[in-house]
Amino acid sequence: MSAAAADRLGAVTSGSALELRGVTKMFGALAAISDVTMTVAPGERRAVLGSNGAGKTTLFNCVTGGFLPTSGTIRLFGEDVTGFPAHERIRRGLRRTYQISLLFGGLSVADNVYLACRGVNRYRFSLLRPRSGDPLVARAEELVEAVHLTAARKRLVSELSYGQQRQLEIALALAGAPRLILLDEPAAGLSPTERAELIAILGNLPAHIGFIIIEHDMDVALRVATKVTMMHNGRVFKEGTPAEIEEDPQVQELYLGDGTHAHG
Ligand SMILES: Nc1ncnc2c1ncn2[C@@H]1O[C@H](COP(=O)(O)OP(=O)(O)OP(=O)(O)O)[C@@H](O)[C@H]1O
Ligand SMILES: [Mg+2]
Repeated sequence: MSAAAADRLGAVTSGSALELRGVTKMFGALAAISDVTMTVAPGERRAVLGSNGAGKTTLFNCVTGGFLPTSGTIRLFGEDVTGFPAHERIRRGLRRTYQISLLFGGLSVADNVYLACRGVNRYRFSLLRPRSGDPLVARAEELVEAVHLTAARKRLVSELSYGQQRQLEIALALAGAPRLILLDEPAAGLSPTERAELIAILGNLPAHIGFIIIEHDMDVALRVATKVTMMHNGRVFKEGTPAEIEEDPQVQELYLGDGTHAHG
């Protein structure tokens, strides 16, 4: 296979899972993100912090293909995907956690994960029943277990707690062959117990699966991430290890303030 063909398949990587160079996204006169340059290694666990409106979700939308950046380039596993539609990025192993509304409320946990493993989404849903011996059934069971929902596997999604629904979303993101998962505030609205569960689930993901987590709770972010990117006014403000970020006087002044977080 030629290098170009290999590159198109994502087989050739430049060593990074994600590389943004000078990415800017304008909404009219407002720069939601400005000149963002960052590199995430394969298997890396990165937290993105920043107060409301810092540009965190816009960054995710540029990476997933929801928005075309105004300028700059985005490379996924070495391949320039800047202008690629979302499904082409998904094909290359990019996932993001879905909103609750994307879950099939009338189906069981096990069936939701099974359908995700079959590559079924709500836009092309038909009643697909697993046949006996279908290897995807076993795969779905593994994913249900990975997100600590084995005891709830027969329950309807509509009967799950909010925290369990978020856990199920992570299982759906794990279907297929993900290499990089973007999680937009997965801990928001969780109880302390559910937060601990989330931290354990993320900590036990296979080493080759990297993730980027947007998180307002410093406690969660610093415990699941090996590296932290702090955003402010659409720009990368600081980048470092959790310890470096925690100890940084500018970060403390900007984000921790008097102990009240910039976001509830
Ligand atoms: N589709 C859009 N159209 C216009 N402006 C937008 C759009 N999306 C985001 N913005 C603006 O871009 C800026 C960054 O928003 P973004 O949602 O990325 O911030 P965030 O860091 O995710 O904030 P939060 O912590 O509140 O989720 C904000 O000023 C926001 O109002
Ligand atoms: Mg956001």
